[in-house]
Amino acid sequence: MLMQIIIKTPNELLEMSKKMWLTCLLMAQICFVIYLSLGYGLTGITTGISGWSRLNSTAYFASDPTGNSMYALHVLLAIVMIIGGSLQLIPAIRAKYTKFHRYNGRVFVMLACTISLAGMYLMIARGTVGNTLMHALTMLGGCVVILASILTVQAARKRNITKHKIWAIRLYLAANGVLFFRLMIFAWLLIFGSLGIDTATFTGPTVLTISVCSYIMPLLIAELVRYAGKTSNRVIIIATTASMMLISIVFLVGLFGVVFASWYPAIVG
Ligand code: HEM
Repeated sequence: MLMQIIIKTPNELLEMSKKMWLTCLLMAQICFVIYLSLGYGLTGITTGISGWSRLNSTAYFASDPTGNSMYALHVLLAIVMIIGGSLQLIPAIRAKYTKFHRYNGRVFVMLACTISLAGMYLMIARGTVGNTLMHALTMLGGCVVILASILTVQAARKRNITKHKIWAIRLYLAANGVLFFRLMIFAWLLIFGSLGIDTATFTGPTVLTISVCSYIMPLLIAELVRYAGKTSNRVIIIATTASMMLISIVFLVGLFGVVFASWYPAIVG
């Protein structure tokens, strides 16, 4: 394995690091979908949505049916969106089943926008942990989803495949921002504990930095990866490869943390 890595060119290593990152993200998505299906889906069927309070304190308020519907829309559609989004990325499906890619793409865009709008409603109407700046960053994530959705579809309609791909990747990253946040915060908690986190209010420099790393950094890193794919500058290619590998490791550590400290206990508890 080590020999295989040594004899690869920087460009091959970059491709490998991209695949490694995507594999880690897909593993996280599978676990997230299992948590949402068993947690929200199954609990919704067995106890009704009032049982969701066990999963999240802001999930259900008996006096607020509109908010409850928004929450249900938000979490249940997320299950379908996450599965559909990943199918869009598989090159074999894109090449062989173009019709499916088109329909699934439309469904993804509609779900991503609906989830984001419902999330914005929840944030304004019900509020959530964190401070105004963190809320603004999450809102920004939602706005990027909506903007990227419009531009992805527009580029596809004009058959501008290069532009379509660029905006589709931005959309995918923005739509996964909330998952990035969970993975990074749990990676931090596992390694550094509550350092830089005010656990009573869920604020502090760590939470703010992780918000930036979840909603803004992925878009910048995507630009770097795209540039690294075109340049012959070995330093940039190797630095990008190393960053992608580091992010993959952070994702794996975070996945371990979030599954065993949050998702698994929430399902069985
Ligand atoms: C588009 C991608 C998004 C997905 C896949 C997503 C997914 C989720 C999920 C699964 C939960 C349940 C939390 C849990 O049980 O751990 C949740 C909660 C929530 N989401 Fe989102 N979300 C997205 C975008 C947004 C946006 C853009 C906003 C607001 C601007 C938002 C605001 C909220 C709020 C306020 C809650 C309530 C829970 C809390 O207080 O933490 N979401 N989201």
